[in-house]
Amino acid sequence: MRTSVRIRPEVQADYGAVFDLDVAAFGGDEEARLVGRIRSSEGFDPRLSLVAETEGRIVGHIVLSRIVIQAPDRDVPALALAPVAVLSAFQRMGIGSALIRAALTAAASIGYGAVFVLGHPDYYPGFGCVPASGYGITAPFSVSDRAFMALELVEGALEGIEGTVV
Ligand SMILES: CC(C)(COP(=O)(O)OP(=O)(O)OC[C@H]1O[C@@H](n2cnc3c(N)ncnc32)[C@H](O)[C@@H]1OP(=O)(O)O)[C@@H](O)C(=O)NCCC(=O)NCCS
Repeated sequence: MRTSVRIRPEVQADYGAVFDLDVAAFGGDEEARLVGRIRSSEGFDPRLSLVAETEGRIVGHIVLSRIVIQAPDRDVPALALAPVAVLSAFQRMGIGSALIRAALTAAASIGYGAVFVLGHPDYYPGFGCVPASGYGITAPFSVSDRAFMALELVEGALEGIEGTVV
């Protein structure tokens, strides 16, 4: 990473900057609004909403939030990774990867078992993600098999669980 970047948990004072960052990175406010809905949902864990900051400016953000895998006999708690964004001028410098790794490390240390992500099938396998279908777990909507991925934070966390993420 060329610039010195600090990754830390998001605080309320960051919300405006994170909104603007998501609008800029995604070219619209859909994901920025999604982040707002996640923050006010019961799935929100503020320890898993992280910002990347350089010279006092927020240049990246990631949030993992709680979801549930509905298996035939029980509900299994897990996390969803979405969205992650880095300002375009700061992309391809490793900030996105650093945010993903920091969020996964934080989630594992809190004790979460698994993370799901809907994303680019060439990007996330680098973090250990594999198609969720390999575990028999499906998305609640129609998606390409390779794009809906899962990562066990605790080995075996997804073994023997077949169901749909809600
Ligand atoms: C996806 C995103 C967060 C990656 O952030 P980043 O800081 O650029 O990521 P990194 O520098 O860690 O990139 C690591 C690798 O990802 C891939 N990658 C990153 N950005 C890419 C892009 N725009 N197009 C294609 N591949 C890309 C590359 O393989 C890159 O490795 P390389 O630099 O050796 O080629 C960033 O591009 C972004 O904010 N995009 C817009 C929002 C978005 O689509 N978010 C993901 C869906 S939730």
